[in-house]
Parts: sequence; structure tokens; C-alpha cells
Amino acid sequence: AWPARYTFVVEETPYKRLCSTKKILTVNGQFPGPTLYARKGDTIIVDVINKGNRNITLHWHGVAQPRNPWSDGPEYITQCPIQPGANFTQKIIFSTEEGTLWWHAHSEWDRATVHGAMIIYPNKDTHYPFPKPHAEIPIILGEWWKEDIGELYTQTLKNGGDPNNSSAFLVNGQPGDLYPCSKPETFKLLVDYGKTYLLRLINAAEQEILFFSIANHKVTVVGSDASYTKPFTTDYVTIPPGQTLDLLLTANQSPSKYYYMAARAYLGGVGIAYDNTTTTAILQYKNHVPSSTPPLLPALPAYNDTNASVHFTGSLRSLADKNHPVDVPLKITTHLFYTLSVNTFPCPKNSCAGPNGSRLAASVNNISFMTPTIDILQAYYYHVNGVFGTRFPNFPPLLFNFTAQDLPLYLQTPKRSTEVKVLEYNATVELVFQGTNVVSGDDHPMHLHGFSFYVVGWGLGNFDKDKDPLTYNLVDPPLKNTITVPVNGWTAIRFKADNPGVWFMHCHLDRHMSWGMDVTFIVKNGKETQAQILPPPPDMPPC
Ligand code: C2O
Ligand code: CU
Repeated sequence: AWPARYTFVVEETPYKRLCSTKKILTVNGQFPGPTLYARKGDTIIVDVINKGNRNITLHWHGVAQPRNPWSDGPEYITQCPIQPGANFTQKIIFSTEEGTLWWHAHSEWDRATVHGAMIIYPNKDTHYPFPKPHAEIPIILGEWWKEDIGELYTQTLKNGGDPNNSSAFLVNGQPGDLYPCSKPETFKLLVDYGKTYLLRLINAAEQEILFFSIANHKVTVVGSDASYTKPFTTDYVTIPPGQTLDLLLTANQSPSKYYYMAARAYLGGVGIAYDNTTTTAILQYKNHVPSSTPPLLPALPAYNDTNASVHFTGSLRSLADKNHPVDVPLKITTHLFYTLSVNTFPCPKNSCAGPNGSRLAASVNNISFMTPTIDILQAYYYHVNGVFGTRFPNFPPLLFNFTAQDLPLYLQTPKRSTEVKVLEYNATVELVFQGTNVVSGDDHPMHLHGFSFYVVGWGLGNFDKDKDPLTYNLVDPPLKNTITVPVNGWTAIRFKADNPGVWFMHCHLDRHMSWGMDVTFIVKNGKETQAQILPPPPDMPPC
């Protein structure tokens, strides 16, 4: 049994990493934060108490929250932040999700240290579609900065350039043996020879897509983003910030050795500065004294190995068996084509830290999203005028060669605005993301709140609206909440807008999110009461 009600106290806590101590924001003093447990279909209450010194919001990443945008969490989208000294009781309504998700802060870049796992078990009458593992272990990948995260955010947005690279990657809060002053605390996974373990892998890093692998051991992918997948066995995985992977690991190698599990950055955009350091944890067999030779490192793909990245992502399929049927919309009522760009704004006297003294920006269809000062949900629900517009533009595909370097000037300087996209209740949406190459080519892990979506197709280069849809997978496409749009490529997703509310969509690299690579959807109410937004809780934080 587990509690259906949790208390989350947000507070400053000193943590020592990489030879020095700093105060970080935590939940209940823990880093990573506490794990939430539920069964499919449960509702959980979390009392959030802000004892920290900054505004905060919490988000339950990947939980659809049917009709309940009030507890979703993105600041100034569905709520005003919880101020220091204030409380907010959030209700997490699980519906179709089953597997691994996570929760994190959704205010500035606080999620760097304010995050934890969510484990959603099958409901009482069902079980895993694979043999019951001997044990289950959350593996949370993260990033550590020597700087204060609040400072890093403020400084980066002020100077207009790229944020500093993190000082280390982390496995379950620990940098691992290869970083200074970190060895004694390296995370250790002790296993019994011959047993199979379920690793619940989460990428909670702020700014980097990661490759992850275990020396000498293969893993079998059985789920992703709280949806089961057709099992497939692999030497490595690619995991962008926001995503989760459920991996089966069988302890079947020589028990007299230590093995590293390791993660490091994958960068789609070639030629930009990046952190090539590696975080490690140790896999050790119980009751064996390993030889004194150092642990074996796994072979991770190179930082610019786009093939390795897209090959892994493209291998995910829905389980699609009789207990887990797929329900891909086949008749589409709403076609959306959204370009994703990193671009720039001019800066007075060219004094900013972006290319040629500019200020870096990011945009969707050339709109660099500006968050308002009261939240969009509140403005929508109570008909407050002047907070947002409803004219988010749609681009026709094939206007340009989006992956060329010489895109028209107007695409290089986006417009700042708070336009939202309104969807009819039950609209069947196909959304094609097109990566562009305006200032830099990056892979963008796009995340949608309020829904899981089917990834029906992807490719490199420009999307071709006549040819590419013929290659769509409508049989067993993976059901995801975060999907990487490959560098200079496209990805097509489908979902049914059957969840009324205000739902954020954004790149899960925090710098791109803060620079404006965001879209806010409003899904209108349906006719019946059960197709309408629930009433707001009485304790919504005021602005
Ligand atoms: Cu995991 Cu809008 O976030
Ligand atoms: Cu991005």
C-alpha cells in the first residue's frame, strides 16, 4: 500500500557535489525528490508547501489530468506561482497512463533540482505484459551546476547568449567516479546473478539529450512515457529531457567484475560547444568480490551520431496487443504544420552574447512565445481580456527548404507574442513539426501537456506533404508525451483533442522553452458536463 496523499515541502537544502557545497531547492530535503506511487486510474493529492525563498510551481509530466488543467503546473499558463510561505493542494488524476513518469518544477529552471519519479502500476486486475521483474529501480539522469540555478537563469536571459554547460551529469543525483570528489557517493546497483530488473529511466537533465548504456549488458525496452512498447533489445538508448524508458536488465554477465552504466550528451547540432563528460553508476553482482581492475565502461555513441539517435527513437513501437490496443485518429479534422527555430533578436549596440552581438531566441512558426503576467487558464476561464490572442499562425508546408541555411530574413527575427491555438473539442489533430536551420540546427524534444500522442512518422530533411504521409505507421506507432524532432528533420504526431483545458507544448530543453519555443493550446469544452473543465479548486495561487 502507499499513501494517496503526499506532503511536498519545497525548501532550500545544502548539498555537496564536485568538491563544494551549495544550497539547492528540494522537495522534503531530498535530491532527487520523493517518488510518487499510484495505480492506473488513481487520483493522488499533493499538498505543496513553499518554504523556499522563490516562486515555484510543480508539474506532473505526462499525466493527462482529464478536465483538470488547474493542477497541471506550468507557471503563467495554468496557474500563478506558489509564493514563498504559500501552499497549494494539487490533484493528480491518472487515467490511461501506466509505467514511468516524473514530476518536476515548472517555474524558470528550478526543475534542475526539483524533480522525482512517478511510478504507475497496473490496476488490481491486470499485470505487466512481461515477466514480473525481481526488483524495480528508478534511474534518474540529471545535470548539476556549480552556479545557483536561479542566477544561471537570470544571467542567461539577461545576457542573451547560451547558458554555461552544466558542471556534471548525474545518475540518481550523483556525478560518479569520473568527476572530482565524487567517487565514494557513486550510485551502486547491486544485482543477483540470473535475475531480471526493471530500470525506470528518466531524463531530468535541463539542457541535454543523453545516450545511456551499460557495459557488457544489453537492455530490453518494454515501455516509454507510461505506455508499453514492443520489446526490443539494444546496447544503448537515446533519451531526451522529459522522456522515460522502461528497460529490462538481466544480470547474466561474469559476476566477478564491476560494470559501469554511463550517460553522456548527444548533440544534434554539430559544432557548438558541449559538455563531453560522462556520468557513471556501478552495476555490481551481490556476494562477489570484484577484481581490482577498474570497472568496464560501455561504448556510448559519439556526441554527433545522429544515426544512432534516430535509429533508437525510430525503433519504438506500441505494444498494440489485445489488452493494449492503439487508437490512432485516422480521419484528421485539424492539420497543423509547426516550424521549430532557434533564431535571434537584435540587441542594442550589438551588446548581447548571442551570434554577432544578438540575443538568442526560439520560436514556433516564427512566434517567440511570451508568457503573460496572469495565467492563461484563469484569463480564459474568467474571460479576462487582453491577456492572450487566439491567432496563432499556421504555416503551409513546403514554403521553403526549411533545412537550408539561407531562409528568408523574416524567419531569422521572430515576433514576440502571446497568441494561442484554439482547438475544437474532439478535433482530431495531426501536427507536423519541422526542424529548421536558422541559427543552429538542434534536435528539439517537444512535449505536450494534457495528452499522449501517437508518433506516426518522422524523417530527415524537409517534410513532403504528398509523399511522407504515405509512409506513416498507423498500425503500432508509439504513444508518447515527448518526442525528439531530429536535427534538420520532421516528426508527425496525432492526437484527439478530447481533454478540455489549457495545455502547454514546448521544447523540453529549458533554454529553448525560456526563449519562446512554446505553443499554448486551448481545447474548448464539449456540450456535456463530462466534456467540460472541472471547477477550479478554492486555493489557486493568486498572482
Ligand atoms: Cu516536463 Cu512542460 O514539462
Ligand atoms: Cu529545442
